[in-house]
Amino acid sequence: MSANAKTTFENFLHQHDEEAWAASLTDLLRSVHEVDRNATQIWFRFYPLSLWRALNEATDAEGLAKQLLMQGTYYLKDQIDSSHKFLYGHRYWPEVKKAVEEHAASFQTSENAKLPDEVRRVAAAVAARVKADESLLIGITAVAFMTLVQAGLAAFKAAPGAMSIDKKHAKKTPAAVLEERAKDDSQGLFGFLKTVDKDWTVTYDEADARARFKLINTEELASAAARDRSQDWRARDARCIEGPIPVECRSASCGTCWVGVLGGAEKLTDVSVREGKNIKEFGYIETNEPKPIIRLACMAQATGAVSIVIPPWNGVFGKFLKAQESIETPAATTETVSSNGVGN
Ligand code: FES
Repeated sequence: MSANAKTTFENFLHQHDEEAWAASLTDLLRSVHEVDRNATQIWFRFYPLSLWRALNEATDAEGLAKQLLMQGTYYLKDQIDSSHKFLYGHRYWPEVKKAVEEHAASFQTSENAKLPDEVRRVAAAVAARVKADESLLIGITAVAFMTLVQAGLAAFKAAPGAMSIDKKHAKKTPAAVLEERAKDDSQGLFGFLKTVDKDWTVTYDEADARARFKLINTEELASAAARDRSQDWRARDARCIEGPIPVECRSASCGTCWVGVLGGAEKLTDVSVREGKNIKEFGYIETNEPKPIIRLACMAQATGAVSIVIPPWNGVFGKFLKAQESIETPAATTETVSSNGVGN
């Protein structure tokens, strides 16, 4: 086989478009442990297949990335072992990576194969090996499959396969993680008398005890992050001009400050009309839910402790992908218009 030829397993994975992956994910989520249910969905929002395909198929990927105002580390091939650090299942990454490679090598035919079943098969094998519940392995295995798609098998195999959280955090049980996520800061003996001056902890890396900042009740996440002067944020990430959350416009116009919400989504204010409209245009999430798992940190105000994840990149690609989609499926669009009598 030539260096660029794809294996049967890669070809099988590549047969699935964004819609097929979304359907598979919906199926799998029922079996994903609560500790990783939001995390798995957030990860798939952070690394959309359709965006990767657009870049991969572009004659000038760099030019397209510029056009889509993309900044930061957006390719999975550059973060094969680390993009999923916020999943509980990340602690099993070395075994999951190895099992996916073995599965790719032994996969004979895609006839009758179904994506969710393949994910479950690998997850079950790893669960038996590491003696953990299968529900803890399904999310990270789905992530591994998509990482393989976007990075390619050769790069996937070449990555060291290291887990990047310390032993203390790796030992935490799912129940302990969920309990920490659900906990609100005590407001002291007379806390019940406090109104506006309550403060809350925002955690932005559950595996790092220092990765948290304080937020004054009803403050936006990004404003609170800006007060954190504990590090040279810009040295860590050029997009961080103040605090750990990258910001630019502070008014829902640029999309720089998007975050995933692992825990406490219900303690954030409802998505405003402006946030809801723009977050779709940026391409981050397509939903009308009032408290979704993806938010703009310059808009979302907290009334309790929350746990968030900060993606390593940002861009404005929603409109571009929608336009591409309508070029690729003109027949389907015409059909919808004629059968409903109205356009969607
Ligand atoms: S900083 Fe521009 S959208 Fe939040």
